[in-house]
Amino acid sequence: MAQLWGGRFTKATDQKVFDFNASIGFDKNLFTQDVEGSIAHAVMLGKQGIITAEEKDAIVKGLAGIREDVEKGTLLIDETQEDIHSFVEATLIDRIGDAGKKLHTGRSRNDQVALDMRLYTRAQVLKTDELVKGLLEEILHIMEENLDTYMPGFTHLQKAQPTTVAHHFGAYFEMFKRDRQRLTDIYYRMNYCPLGAGALAGTTYPLDRNYTASLLGFEGPTLNSMDSVSDRDYLIEFLSALSIIMMHLSRFSEEIIIWNSNEYRFIELDDAFSTGSSIMPQKKNPDIAELVRGKTGRVYGALMALLTTMKGIPLAYNKDMQEDKELSFDAMKTAADCLELFTGMIATMKFRKDVMAKSAMNGFTNATDAADYLVNKGVPFRDAHGIIGRLVLYCIDKDTSIDALSIEELKEVSDKFEPDIYDAVSLKTCVEKRLTLGAPGSEMMKEVIRINKEYLSGNTGIGTTNQ
Ligand code: ARG
Repeated sequence: MAQLWGGRFTKATDQKVFDFNASIGFDKNLFTQDVEGSIAHAVMLGKQGIITAEEKDAIVKGLAGIREDVEKGTLLIDETQEDIHSFVEATLIDRIGDAGKKLHTGRSRNDQVALDMRLYTRAQVLKTDELVKGLLEEILHIMEENLDTYMPGFTHLQKAQPTTVAHHFGAYFEMFKRDRQRLTDIYYRMNYCPLGAGALAGTTYPLDRNYTASLLGFEGPTLNSMDSVSDRDYLIEFLSALSIIMMHLSRFSEEIIIWNSNEYRFIELDDAFSTGSSIMPQKKNPDIAELVRGKTGRVYGALMALLTTMKGIPLAYNKDMQEDKELSFDAMKTAADCLELFTGMIATMKFRKDVMAKSAMNGFTNATDAADYLVNKGVPFRDAHGIIGRLVLYCIDKDTSIDALSIEELKEVSDKFEPDIYDAVSLKTCVEKRLTLGAPGSEMMKEVIRINKEYLSGNTGIGTTNQ
């Protein structure tokens, strides 16, 4: 049990209290950020003459050494310390003596932890953006290869109109593109440095907050010291963006599970991305997709937990805020793992093109096109809708499809039908004629792919100019 604040106390902390209060078990994740922030703080203290150049050099060297040793594994993080800040400071004092005792001048653990958490989250926002970009690249690749892989499009999970794999995947491309835009927004909004806010009311030392902010790659310092130590909005925003990413991944996973089912057989998952059953030898299960779908709840949980934790906290810092860490770390790692694995799973799965096309031909997916055919021959749409409805009933009764009827059978329902109806309701025509912006016709899809390729190659991620 080791503490930075023993001076005012006459009794040792109860062990259970210490354990309940301690955060080192999880804030050790912030080790790198804590050292980085401390180095910037010491450099600033040196520049401002608050500590001497020699003291500054000793602190910076000492901290760099601690970082190196922990990275090499020759120094273990001592979990009997209260938190990661205490561990770094105590180790520094242990190694360099009195100069180390000056590191915390003009700083509180409140602005220190606010900084560490912000640095950590900022790095995770960048990492997530990269992973979403990788997923987008894979989706675009699949789109390019499947412009004429026909499949049924669904509403109410009932076959509706024919579409293509390129078009279906294109829907997810747009979702994940918006996810990247959300991450970019968050990054720019959060990129301000809270260090120098002190416990809550700044400090009397002549700190140069602009300088520390620039050393740490921030746009500038935050503007209110009370807000600086008690703001976790950026984290809530990131958890919210991660929840939306997970919601997209989960919907996509659900479709993959359905497509992989014995009833659909639209896709074949790669053996490397599937698992078997301990009892049923025939099984090849879509566990990755199911886990991604399942882990979505975990990420939503982190968002709800932090929103709830924050809702009753008066200004400024309160210990409740320590609860921002465990679930956030878990959510960030979970979402990153899911993005990585999901990308690998879709990169290796195969489409059963024949099964998909056959399925697209059944279920009257060309009924709208048959009605449109009559409209083109001068029948008002509402009447055409009624005529084709009766035709569908007739087909259901005879267990056949519109395109399999003879011209005589068709003419019995409407004399507007001519032999060109067969081409008009063929799967290829039904898809290829859909050329409105955003529709599945391959000429339109090629244009959308061109735009999205430009988006991906055009520096549209965080830290680039072309937002
Ligand atoms: N471990 C604390 C947290 O995660 C940071 C330290 C601030 N503690 C304090 N007692 N003021 O929020």
